[in-house]
Amino acid sequence: MDQDAMKRAAAQAALDYIEPGSIIGIGTGSTANHFIDLLAGVKGRIEAAVASSQASARRLQEHGIPVLDLNEAGRLSLYVDGADEANDLLHLIKGGGGALTREKIVAGASDHFVCIADDTKLVDVLGKFPLPIEVIPMARELVAREVRALGGEPVLREGFVTDNGNVILDVHGLVIDEAVRLESLLNHIPGVVTNGLFAIRPADVLLLGTPDGVRRLTPQGG
Ligand code: 5RP
Repeated sequence: MDQDAMKRAAAQAALDYIEPGSIIGIGTGSTANHFIDLLAGVKGRIEAAVASSQASARRLQEHGIPVLDLNEAGRLSLYVDGADEANDLLHLIKGGGGALTREKIVAGASDHFVCIADDTKLVDVLGKFPLPIEVIPMARELVAREVRALGGEPVLREGFVTDNGNVILDVHGLVIDEAVRLESLLNHIPGVVTNGLFAIRPADVLLLGTPDGVRRLTPQGG
């Protein structure tokens, strides 16, 4: 089974978590796109969706799925999204698609976070995937210096502007063994909007597409 088929299988399994008649949050990326496409087949099950990016909102609307602003939706029962890396505590690195800030907002507004991914995303230690940080443009160099002092090597994502009008620094070379602490530390650098660590609010369930079917993981040893 190829990686894309494993993503789709994980997305399919996430449909079981939908409460009938609810408003759900939906993430961004190729795995989230599978979820949106599969949701289209059962769209009567939900009242509406809140999207974590303009791209996901467009895709939902193309399928005729009503999209609400988070401010109109209130608390959401479920958030479904992919990840770039996950560990066994279900701490995640996200933001490969640059939507990390809205993803963190919608995840934070949701009672239950179901992460969907193929099995290449499960790692022992987070950090091989460069950690994205969304930064207010005028603070780019300040944040880069502070990140270097923490041992990371920031690289500006060239030609990319987030849905919020900001830039992304992708931080290479971090070995992240204290994800909650690092997430908080990075958030306190002036000019940082969000970083791509989802550890303070990790996923509740990880549905992992594997060649042998979908594995369901919950946080271990935390
Ligand atoms: C976007 C994200 C995505 O969830 C992450 O990049 C995984 O993407 P994909 O499902 O395409 O592998 O955080 O900002």
